[in-house]
Amino acid sequence: MGGVLKDHKAAPPGHCLTRKLLTRSLYALFLLGILHICLFPRRPLQAHIPSIIATGTGTGTDTGTTTTTTVAAATDDCDYSVGQWVRAAAGPQYNGSSCATIKDGQNCMAHGRPDAGYLYWRWQPQGCSLPPFDAVAFLHLLRDRHVAFVGDSMARNQLDDGEEGKFRRWRFPSHNATVSVFWSPFLVEGVEKSAAAGLDHNELFLDEVDRRWAAELGSIHWVVLSVGHWFLHPAVYYDKRGGAVLGCHYCPNLNHTEVGFFGVYQRAFRTALAAATGGSARNVVVATFSPAHFEGEWDKAGACPKTEPYSPGEKPLQWMDMELRRLQLEEAAAAGAAPLDVTAMAGMRPDGHPGPYMRAFPFAGGATERVQNDCVHWCLPGPVDAWNEILLQLVRRRSLAVGGGGR
Ligand SMILES: *[C@@H]1O[C@H](CO)[C@@H](O)[C@H](O)[C@H]1NC(C)=O
Ligand SMILES: *[C@@H]1O[C@H](CO)[C@@H](O)[C@H](O)[C@H]1NC(C)=O
Ligand SMILES: *[C@@H]1O[C@H](CO)[C@@H](O)[C@H](O)[C@H]1NC(C)=O
Repeated sequence: MGGVLKDHKAAPPGHCLTRKLLTRSLYALFLLGILHICLFPRRPLQAHIPSIIATGTGTGTDTGTTTTTTVAAATDDCDYSVGQWVRAAAGPQYNGSSCATIKDGQNCMAHGRPDAGYLYWRWQPQGCSLPPFDAVAFLHLLRDRHVAFVGDSMARNQLDDGEEGKFRRWRFPSHNATVSVFWSPFLVEGVEKSAAAGLDHNELFLDEVDRRWAAELGSIHWVVLSVGHWFLHPAVYYDKRGGAVLGCHYCPNLNHTEVGFFGVYQRAFRTALAAATGGSARNVVVATFSPAHFEGEWDKAGACPKTEPYSPGEKPLQWMDMELRRLQLEEAAAAGAAPLDVTAMAGMRPDGHPGPYMRAFPFAGGATERVQNDCVHWCLPGPVDAWNEILLQLVRRRSLAVGGGGR
């Protein structure tokens, strides 16, 4: 018991700023946007043959068993995680005016972010192409299916806030498809720290999958797990509720052994993946860790001031980011889950965060000495939209591999 916890003792250098920000200011992390509901059509769809499906039937009746004939060969062995950001003349498919549900803190345009260059990039994987997100194609692939996003996704807050907004469900009757978001920042059972409850650290129960999503697995066909930054918070770890303390992370006032968060992260994924993949043909996707980009003090105006992406090799990933990703990939592979490996592409986008524009017009009253910055989440529209483009390809690839039946 606790074997994996012992391997990683010290907090890695360089994550203090992140921790400072997390512990002092941002409790609610909606990190991986993943699925932007605004991209979906609001009204029932007429028969439509989406470009990436390229059906062979030509009828447009969409029986759910049509097969792809064109795009497949070009991209099926593509490693989307390796590539570079290239300039794109076409801007985003939505914005704060066309989409009313962007969470305030990520609506950078509406909050007065002065530069727009960060919107004109697309991810170019090495040796293959990545088509733009096609919501209609996505729905076709998910006919009669339920896809669940589980984690600290910002999708939870796109339509409203408060507790209820943490669990949302959208139904698309035209395709009998369901998309839902489950708030579960640890994947396993836990108690989130809360000033109101006088709890200054999180508590995690590493061997107990979070029932809030796991209880519904029976009706879920696709699960996308995306967590990360909440594991950097101060925390005390248990194997299960009522069990012995395994250790803690950053708990100087408690008499527990510091065990860091790497082993904990891995064990939480192992527990979650065992539940998600257990005994079924369910498709499970693991979105890898998305690095933060603090360059200086978190409360100085220019904490993530870059306005352009890094080019390949310009800024190697930090050790912590690589290690969290590595552990996720290891667990995903062991469980037969598909990686949505965004760590490198996310790491190359220091320009994509709200920074001071997490608040509306932060400099309206003149230059300010100290202002809170968000260099963790992504502006919407922004780099995170490319994650969905890859997810669409993962779903498409999978439905090709198994034919219509196992989507
Ligand atoms: C926002 O999107 C709408 C609809 O696509 C478009 O007409 C408008 O020009 C966009 N605004 C900006 C600032 O890009
Ligand atoms: C809709 O999809 C669900 C699975 O998500 C399935 O159980 C149900 O039978 C479908 N309904 C119809 C009318 O096909
Ligand atoms: C701290 O824990 C150790 C080992 O469990 C124990 O021996 C010691 O008495 C504890 N100290 C305090 C102040 O509780």
